[in-house]
Amino acid sequence: MPGWGEEAGRLKWSRRWDAELEWDPPAARWFAGGQINASYNALDVQDPSRTAIIWEGEDGSVRRITYGWLLDQASRLAGGLLSMGVGRGDRVAIYLPMIPELPAAMLACARIGAVHTVVFSGLGAASLRSRIADSGARVLVTADAGYRRGARIRLKEAADEAVRGTGVRTIVVRRTGDASLGPGDTWWDDLVSGSAPADPVPLESCHPLFILYTSGTTGMPKGILHGTGGYLVHACSTFRLAFGTRPGDIYWCTADPGWVTGHSYVVYAPLCCGATQVMYEGAPDHPDASRMWQVAERHGVTILYTTPTAIRMQMASGILPGSHDLSALRLLGSVGEPLGAPAWAWYRDEVGGGRCPVIDTWWQTETGGMMVVDPPGGGTPEPGYAGRPVPGIDVRVVDDGGRPAPDGERGRIVVSGTWPGMMIGVWGSEERYASYWSGDPPVYQAGDYAVRDAEGRIRILGRADDVLNVAGHRIGTAEIEACAASHPGVAEAAACGVPDPVRGQSIAVFAVPRGGGFEPGEIRSLVRRDVGPVASPRIVCSVPRLPKTRSGKIMRRILGALAAGSDPGDTSTLEDPGAVEDAARALRGA
Ligand code: WT7
Repeated sequence: MPGWGEEAGRLKWSRRWDAELEWDPPAARWFAGGQINASYNALDVQDPSRTAIIWEGEDGSVRRITYGWLLDQASRLAGGLLSMGVGRGDRVAIYLPMIPELPAAMLACARIGAVHTVVFSGLGAASLRSRIADSGARVLVTADAGYRRGARIRLKEAADEAVRGTGVRTIVVRRTGDASLGPGDTWWDDLVSGSAPADPVPLESCHPLFILYTSGTTGMPKGILHGTGGYLVHACSTFRLAFGTRPGDIYWCTADPGWVTGHSYVVYAPLCCGATQVMYEGAPDHPDASRMWQVAERHGVTILYTTPTAIRMQMASGILPGSHDLSALRLLGSVGEPLGAPAWAWYRDEVGGGRCPVIDTWWQTETGGMMVVDPPGGGTPEPGYAGRPVPGIDVRVVDDGGRPAPDGERGRIVVSGTWPGMMIGVWGSEERYASYWSGDPPVYQAGDYAVRDAEGRIRILGRADDVLNVAGHRIGTAEIEACAASHPGVAEAAACGVPDPVRGQSIAVFAVPRGGGFEPGEIRSLVRRDVGPVASPRIVCSVPRLPKTRSGKIMRRILGALAAGSDPGDTSTLEDPGAVEDAARALRGA
């Protein structure tokens, strides 16, 4: 990167910053003294007649959403939010499917300095309720229902359950028209048509833009808090570095804005860069796996950014993209999980026809934007490697003592110094923010294992902590364990990851029964309801005891090895090595 100040200069600021960075480790203030508004940069400065989003519904209907439409909706909704008493710093929860109102709602919040917290619409009422409670949101934006794999998902019902007794007011997008409104509810259309557009307010560069919950090693997901100026600079400059959209490009990032990829690379960066993108409402394999290629062909997609799970799902379907005209494609990107060599080769050859560069991007909810990527033409890509650190960001692979790991040897990813997209905090918990840093001077601990080669390329091996990555979704073992243990027939539970050929990892739960015990199906339904369908365990086994160290730590590594059918390795540190044989026997019976 030529320099973060120069990158920042490409955005429109209401007041120029006094200092590019004030760094008092581990706290950073990027572009301190500067004032900016994200909604203004995404909408007001763009050509209103330009297509921002080519939206395709699961039923095949297509809507062309202009920058002007988004501006109109976002600024009127912002006016409506103001009339409901939402002001600067107040939190607004957003629980919407992949419809254009989702980015509009985010940008409405950003316009008036309200802090949005988007909850993925695939999560259930319990997850929504705990996020609303933790963030202290008093307004929720949702829809009557959404479509997924041909089914109607009744979001309003889940929303009602989530806010029952809390006094949270709800704004409802009419998608299917079959919800009834309660006393504190209003239809989006009524609010928007009855409200005057609100102007974007200049905000301090470090003003919080959003909270996004992600899994950690405790039962409660943490609210990652991002600022405005630094975050936008990071998202936009890495978007340009990786994808360099030009006039005529049709960009398609398949992520749902419910996750960080959607925040940075569907909403903020592409819109601030004036891009035209595809947004598809439904599942990429509905009614069958060719849907992804139909969408790409129909809209002439030139840049595709997706996940290894989506690619492996396509590979496994046996449907070759070759029967679709994908000749418009020029660049392919991947994010969220390790892109192994077979998926990399299939992506390059079957999807890209051998002519499109494949770029892999490593980053995290906390980092705000890409941290490791070899931009197209920026070196010989090596399958399996995410690439080199983004210029200006000091990503390292270190041993347990914090010294650089020798080339080719496994170490942990840390980041020395800071970078503009770094989270500004963890909502409500200074300790949780501080726990990411260690050493003197403190370095950021990413929680991943990786290997670096002599060329400086980094290969990501996976999480080093008790966090799973299922189909690109981050899920804490502690969340699943707390959920399983909420069943009255479970005394305690352990969750671990099992290698899965398509989804990267799947989940196994080992539970110790008590009282009347449990049925595996009951644990599955509980997890689906409280954590979300993505976390649904593939294996649920009843065991008399869990393998633990003498200090009482559950040995998930051993359970994971057993579930994968591999050697559990050294079990000598266990309190009771017989627990391993118990688990192996339970697996044979499961
Ligand atoms: C974790 C972060 C990045 C946005 C979506 C996920 C894993 C991310 C890669 C990659 C291998 C990757 C890491 C990381 N991860 N990108 N290119 N190759 N692994 O964001 O939910 O915060 O998860 O996803 O394990 O720590 P997230």
